[in-house]
Amino acid sequence: MVIEIQDLVKKYGKKTVVDGVSLNIKEGEVLGLLGPNGAGKSTTISAILGLVKISAGDVKIFGQTLKPGAVDIKKRIGYVPQDFAFFPELSAYDNVTYWAKLYQIKGKDVKEAVKEALDFVGLWDRRKDKAKTYSGGMKRRLNIACAIVHKPDILIMDEPTVGVDPQSRNNILDAVRILNQKGTTVIYTSHYMEEIQAICNQVAIMDNGRIIAQGTIDELIHLMSEERKVRLDISNMTEEAYKKIQSWKFLSDISKEENEIHFKMNEQDMSKLMEELVKNKIEVIALDVEKPNLETVFLQLTGKKLRD
Ligand SMILES: Nc1ncnc2c1ncn2[C@@H]1O[C@H](COP(=O)(O)OP(=O)(O)OP(=O)(O)O)[C@@H](O)[C@H]1O
Ligand SMILES: [Mg+2]
Repeated sequence: MVIEIQDLVKKYGKKTVVDGVSLNIKEGEVLGLLGPNGAGKSTTISAILGLVKISAGDVKIFGQTLKPGAVDIKKRIGYVPQDFAFFPELSAYDNVTYWAKLYQIKGKDVKEAVKEALDFVGLWDRRKDKAKTYSGGMKRRLNIACAIVHKPDILIMDEPTVGVDPQSRNNILDAVRILNQKGTTVIYTSHYMEEIQAICNQVAIMDNGRIIAQGTIDELIHLMSEERKVRLDISNMTEEAYKKIQSWKFLSDISKEENEIHFKMNEQDMSKLMEELVKNKIEVIALDVEKPNLETVFLQLTGKKLRD
């Protein structure tokens, strides 16, 4: 295990903001931490990084508890914070150089590392511009360049795509994929389930300081009831056909709108549905089965939407 979190608790005064979180992250995984505002994602990350004093529980990185001044471990971690962490008055080049030196890269290796990091996020051509003149997406990419200049084994990214244009967003998601292919273990927090679905192989859903579901995306989706919403478009719609359909016991919540029939059914009953339609000479023009996604999972687990 690269990271092991056991029963992590973080309180601010009387308020418990992380409430017994346990997570194991294996080498080479991309773990998505998905949850709404205030769920406790950033606080969990701060605890992993040793940036906050935890109230209870245990956090291990590479099998060790992170102590202040544990430089050897810290050098193996890259952190892209939710808020920008660079000097706005400095150029991108000088900012990344600052981080390279902080991570104890020495001599001519500095220049090489800085070039590689800026190239990687597509900012090499703009390296001489002050960071404050960058667009939101470029600032996010600079934030990432600062975090990866020392080629960390673990990359922790806290909402790295907030406020970016689609091009920067794709650039960032591609960057995560490439780094992961090279062996980097990634923790990625987001409100956006599409991003998590696109890049993560493990997902933990957080709400109110707790992990309410955890697994691969497929596992989480299968956790949900097998019931699917279906829409049928029928060419020879008659009152009789509708009555017939209403009599089928394996359907529920049946309703009709002109030539369309909506209902819920178990996915396993699909062939039964086909048989009945053919047997009763009901001609189907279109059939839609709603596919559940992480948003559906989240809604079912918490009763609320990821983004309000
Ligand atoms: N330093 C602090 N002092 C007091 N409360 C805090 C502090 N930091 C965070 N909190 C509270 O802890 C809770 C969890 O915050 P956290 O930033 O971890 O959530 P998050 O999931 O990262 O949310 P977001 O998606 O908005 O970034 C929130 O209710 C927040 O107000
Ligand atoms: Mg946060």
